[in-house]
Amino acid sequence: MDLHRTQVLHLFYRSATSAWGQGFAGEAATKVTAWVSRHVPDLPLIARVRPANIASRRVAIRAGPTRTEHLDGAGYAGLDWIYASKLPN
Ligand SMILES: CC(C)(COP(=O)(O)OP(=O)(O)OC[C@H]1O[C@@H](n2cnc3c(N)ncnc32)[C@H](O)[C@@H]1OP(=O)(O)O)[C@@H](O)C(=O)NCCC(=O)NCCS
Repeated sequence: MDLHRTQVLHLFYRSATSAWGQGFAGEAATKVTAWVSRHVPDLPLIARVRPANIASRRVAIRAGPTRTEHLDGAGYAGLDWIYASKLPN
């Protein structure tokens, strides 16, 4: 996807409610981030997170990307916070 006219990979996660709270999303996102780092090292990886979604924020942090406030922007349902593995300029 494009983020502020920069090509990035989008780390998106959604799991069945019956699986929530068992660490699966954090584990899966961490594996994906490691795979991307090894196999697609030239592309930044970003996660878009609604600030009120604490579980989503925790998954992004556990996976490795860090908060990049200057890339925050409007999403489908209000402000999205951006976490990125590499900082696009
Ligand atoms: C976001 C989502 C994938 C998390 O799934 P999950 O399997 O519950 O995640 P995990 O069990 O790996 O928990 C992740 C972290 O969130 C925390 N957490 C989980 N539910 C929480 C809640 N209701 N409130 C606060 N923290 C919560 C966990 O303690 C864990 O924190 P830690 O890594 O510091 O231990 C899941 O809630 C979901 O599918 N939500 C709907 C889709 C969505 O919002 N996707 C994100 C859009 S990018």
